[in-house]
Amino acid sequence: MNRREFARLLAIGGAVPFLTPGTAWPRPADLPPTPASPDERFWMSVREQFVMPPDLAILNAANLCPSSAPVLETLYKVTKDMDQDPSMENRAKLGDGRENTRKLLADFLRVTPEEIVITRNTSESNNLVSTGLDLKAGDEVLLTADNHPSNHTAWQEKAKRFGFTVKDIPTPNPHPGFEYYVDAFTKAITPRTKVIAFTHLTSTVGDLFPAKELCRLARERGILTLVDGAQTFGLLDVDLSDIQPDFYSGSAHKWPCGPKENGVLYINKSAQPKIWASIFSAYPGRVGVSKTFEGFGQRDEPAMIAFGEALQLQTKIGRAAIEKRSRELTQALIKGIGKIDGVKIWTSPEASRTVAVLSFQPGNLDVRKLSMALYQKDRIGCATRGGQDRPGLRFSPHFYNTHNDVEKAVAAVKKYMATGV
Ligand SMILES: Cc1ncc(COP(=O)(O)O)c(C=O)c1O
Repeated sequence: MNRREFARLLAIGGAVPFLTPGTAWPRPADLPPTPASPDERFWMSVREQFVMPPDLAILNAANLCPSSAPVLETLYKVTKDMDQDPSMENRAKLGDGRENTRKLLADFLRVTPEEIVITRNTSESNNLVSTGLDLKAGDEVLLTADNHPSNHTAWQEKAKRFGFTVKDIPTPNPHPGFEYYVDAFTKAITPRTKVIAFTHLTSTVGDLFPAKELCRLARERGILTLVDGAQTFGLLDVDLSDIQPDFYSGSAHKWPCGPKENGVLYINKSAQPKIWASIFSAYPGRVGVSKTFEGFGQRDEPAMIAFGEALQLQTKIGRAAIEKRSRELTQALIKGIGKIDGVKIWTSPEASRTVAVLSFQPGNLDVRKLSMALYQKDRIGCATRGGQDRPGLRFSPHFYNTHNDVEKAVAAVKKYMATGV
């Protein structure tokens, strides 16, 4: 087309026949039904649902997971529809989509939509709890010592403001066992204890906490519980009707492989009268606690709808199968890395006390340099931990990883331990 023809096309208002580069990607083949015993071939077809190039082994799910192609497609399609016609009439249907995601979240966690708040991430969910409870001088909050700042610094700062006290339950390494924690909390509880807050699975070394037992202990004494589920939501087949916490938090962009800046806060019906909403604005949710708790102003509704798509993909694959796969890959990693001379593993050697996080110190190697070499030379993504407290490298595999990724990671660490970086 020459310049004159192009100008004529614009003048008559016709569509310019160019696509914006990079807005399309090949659609993956349909996912086959999950076999009774999923094999490596099945998991390869799961891997193909993600747009990461096949040679890239990202072992960093505890930090951020990729969205699958169906999630990206939903996000793109709904955003485009909204921006092509941003009238209130066209956008009305987005509210229905958001409520559908709430229902999917409730099914996923086995609770009711009336107990679900769609937040922006775990940090926000945790902070809505520590800000919203009526705590005062004389009250006490018990925390596990190994918590994310959104569930640790947040309580400490609010304690300064409102006058309550915060006490840490130590978290020794290696994981001392579930009974140790039930016992430690039982001993630490006093008549002043009002809240117990802990991380279901720690991001540091992958210590799993006995959520059901700790929630029962607290409930029997009239104490509220906040379970930080950032590292279990979308990884474990979490059943909140069984665990029965008062509050549970999670992020879409971690293990559920959903869009960024979406999260969940579960508020048990019995705890709802005990917590204040922190933000009051327009556009709350339509049912239950979301009517008062979720009025955060204008939201990214296409992302909220894509969040639902992510949950549906996991449900289709099977949540128990996903949990089993992540456990299996982690154990294979622990076995492989554990055989390398000079490596110190921080993650529990007991398979029942951990899930999909492996932290280890690779001898005297500089972990930043090692992580950079793994990424640049071996196409492996992971996380590092500096400082003196359990420093090293962290691998966190998920259902889009394969045994090939595990073997590649073990071989690469072995190579650098032998040659240096
Ligand atoms: C245990 C735990 N809680 C909370 C968070 C915060 O998650 P987000 O950044 O999605 O708010 C993280 C992030 O890694 C985490 O590991």
